[in-house]
Order: sequence, then structure tokens, then C-alpha cells
Amino acid sequence: MKRIAILGISGSIGVQALEVIEANPSEFMLYGATVHRRVEMLEAIHKKHALTAVCLPKEHHQSFIEEEISLFDDLVKFVASLPEDVTLLNALVGSVGLASTIQAIEMGLDVLLANKESLVVGGEIIAEKLTQSSSKLIPIDSEHSALSQCLRGRSIDDVEKVVITASGGSFRDYSREQLATVTREEALKHPNWSMGEKITIDSATMMNKVFEVIEAHYLFGLPYEKIEAVCHRESVVHAIVYFKDGNIVAHIGPSDMRIPILSAMQGEKCLPYRSIFDITKAQPLHFEPIDSTRFPLFDLGVAVAKRKGLHTVTMNAANEIAVELFLAEKIRYLDIEHIIETCLDYFDHTNDLTLDKILAHDQAVRSYVKKLYLDGETHDSH
Ligand SMILES: NC(=O)c1ccc[n+]([C@@H]2O[C@H](COP(=O)([O-])OP(=O)(O)OC[C@H]3O[C@@H](n4cnc5c(N)ncnc54)[C@H](OP(=O)(O)O)[C@@H]3O)[C@@H](O)[C@H]2O)c1
Repeated sequence: MKRIAILGISGSIGVQALEVIEANPSEFMLYGATVHRRVEMLEAIHKKHALTAVCLPKEHHQSFIEEEISLFDDLVKFVASLPEDVTLLNALVGSVGLASTIQAIEMGLDVLLANKESLVVGGEIIAEKLTQSSSKLIPIDSEHSALSQCLRGRSIDDVEKVVITASGGSFRDYSREQLATVTREEALKHPNWSMGEKITIDSATMMNKVFEVIEAHYLFGLPYEKIEAVCHRESVVHAIVYFKDGNIVAHIGPSDMRIPILSAMQGEKCLPYRSIFDITKAQPLHFEPIDSTRFPLFDLGVAVAKRKGLHTVTMNAANEIAVELFLAEKIRYLDIEHIIETCLDYFDHTNDLTLDKILAHDQAVRSYVKKLYLDGETHDSH
């Protein structure tokens, strides 16, 4: 029986991870979970699963005070309390997930990672920590899960290049003129996947694909030159591996995150799951280069990723706060690009990163953007 703790159980990935656990009661058990705002979901889950530990804001602790349960209001302390046989599933959204990922790796826990921002902002630190830890870092993101399947039994040294696919997001057929006036509701209508709000906007801007290129770099130890992304509007092929011997292996399947979640949870097993997929209905399939005129953030983001260091943190924090402001209808859609470019120009770059520096810089970028866009003020120094 694998015991699993889920960070962010109330989100899109968290809920589907719970479904996978509940569909396999003889294989998996929910040990603990965390929420941020959706406290009532955690109460309901605890009633059903009798959790051992939970983490939620302190003002909501009274809901659990009568229970025999370990209560936390700090994600890292929650992770630090986990026994060594518990597997951590990180389904948080944003850089708030980084410290928990690092804590789990330092403890030698296996980490099933949906929180791609952990690798975006802390990839160098995580890669280094993994060399000194018995932890396994297993991807949940569909493209990286697909790459893992394609790479099974093969050596990474045999790989010529990998290709991950992008659906193109909500605005894949929009012109720049049309993008200038799109609304929050339009941006949240993803053509193929039902996901959390932030990743849905990131898919529309192509920032999500930048993040996935970074994830592939750190998860598989591949140089950026060997990682490509293409637009594939049907989201049937999730990833392709070109091997040096001429073989090309692709992973296909429906847009169903429960498959990569189950794949990450099951390890070497092959647990039953009925995937509804008819190849005869999946055609025709299109593959096109990413249009960098309509989606300039892709080239910009990959260039930033290749430099590594603090600019990657700047880009991520600027994106997080910009998406938040767009979702709150405080800025227009194309302001997201503008905010990221402005922050990259404004903040200095260094390659010397620690967790504390990352967290402090993340806050500095958010404050800068809030001042610029909410107060209409500009800064002179940084
Ligand atoms: N959704 C997908 O299909 C999908 C696919 C591939 C990869 N991913 C990646 O998986 C991660 C999660 O995505 P999602 O779509 O599941 O996001 P989501 O639906 O927005 O859920 C995010 C979770 O994080 C919690 N959370 C947010 N801010 C927090 C904070 N400051 N402190 C503690 N908890 C916080 C939320 O709690 P409350 O809801 O209680 O506020 C929620 O449980 C992201 O990194 C995303 O890129 C998602």
C-alpha cells in the first residue's frame, strides 16, 4: 500500500489525483493533504479518508480541532512531518510549491511533481539536491509523463532530440489585433483540456510551453538544444523521442490527466484504467511550428531559460502576478507580455541562487509589478 500526501488537493490535479487513489483502494492510501482557500473540500475529504495530517490557513483550524489529526499552517512544516515511506504529490500552483519540493527531496521522499514552477524557478537547486538524495522526482505533466513512457528501457544518451506538443491554447487562431481585446472568459476556454485557471492562461500565452521545455531540461538532463516544442491542435500526440538509431517513438492518448497521474503513482506496476480513445476518430493530426510573431513569449522565455539564474525567477514571478491581475480583470491580455518584458529589463541577472534569494526576489518582482500597475507608480532603484 503506497501512502500519499497531496499538496493542493482542492485543485484540478489534486482532485483527479484523489480520484485515482479512490479508484485503487488496495494500492493507494491518502495520508494527508493541504488546501489554501477551499477548506470545505478538505473537511469532506477528511470525513471519507480519516487523514493523519492536514495543512490549511490557521484561521480555519477550528474545523479540525476536535479531530485526531496533525494540523499545520505551513507547507514546509507539513512536508517535514511526513514519515519516510510517504510519497509526496505536489499539485500546488506557482512558485509557492518550490520550498516543499526541496524539503521532500532533502528528506529522501519520492516526489510526484505536477507543480512545474518548482523546476522553473528552482531547477538548478533541485537537480543538485537530487544528486545527494535517494528521492525520485517523477513527472505528472502529460508531455513529460509521455516522454518517460517513450524513454522506458532506453538510455538518455541514445536520444537525438525530444519534441513536446502544444495545443496552442485558447487563442491559437487569433491574430495580434484580436489578442488586444480578448476577455478573461475567452482566455479560460481551453479547446482540449480542463485545467486550473493559471495554467489555462499560460497555455494561451505559450508561457506554459516555455515552462515545459525547462521541466524537460531538468527532468531528463537534456540540453536545451535537444528539446523542441511544436503546435499540435488535436492534443493526441503528447511527446515524441527521436533516437540516434533512426527510431522515432511517440506517445498518444486522450486529454485525460488521470493517465499521467496514475503512471506517476504506480511506479513499475501497470494498474488497470479504461482510457477512452478511438484512433479512427482522432484524425487528421496537424503539427506546425510555434508562431513566434503571434506568441512572442515562447522565444523570449526559452532564451531566458537558457541563461538560467535569476532572470528565470523574474520571468516566472512576473508571469504569476500578471496572470493574477489579468484574471482579476485589472490588466488587458497583452499586458501579460508587457509586464514580463518590463521586469526582465528592470531586474538584474545573476547566476548565484539559493532558496532564500529565489523567494525574496519572487516577492520583489510581485511588489514592483503591483506598484506599476495598481498604483501607477514607477521605481528608480532596485
Ligand atoms: N490542471 C492540469 O490539468 C495540469 C496539467 C499539467 C500540469 N499542471 C500543473 O499542476 C499544478 C497545479 O495546477 P492546477 O491546474 O491543478 O491548479 P489549481 O486548480 O489552481 O489548483 C492549485 C492548488 O494549489 C493550492 N494553492 C494555491 N495557492 C496556494 C498557496 N498560496 N498556498 C497553498 N496552497 C495554494 C490551491 O488551493 P485552494 O484551491 O484551496 O485555494 C489548489 O489546491 C500547476 O503547476 C500546473 O501547471 C496542471
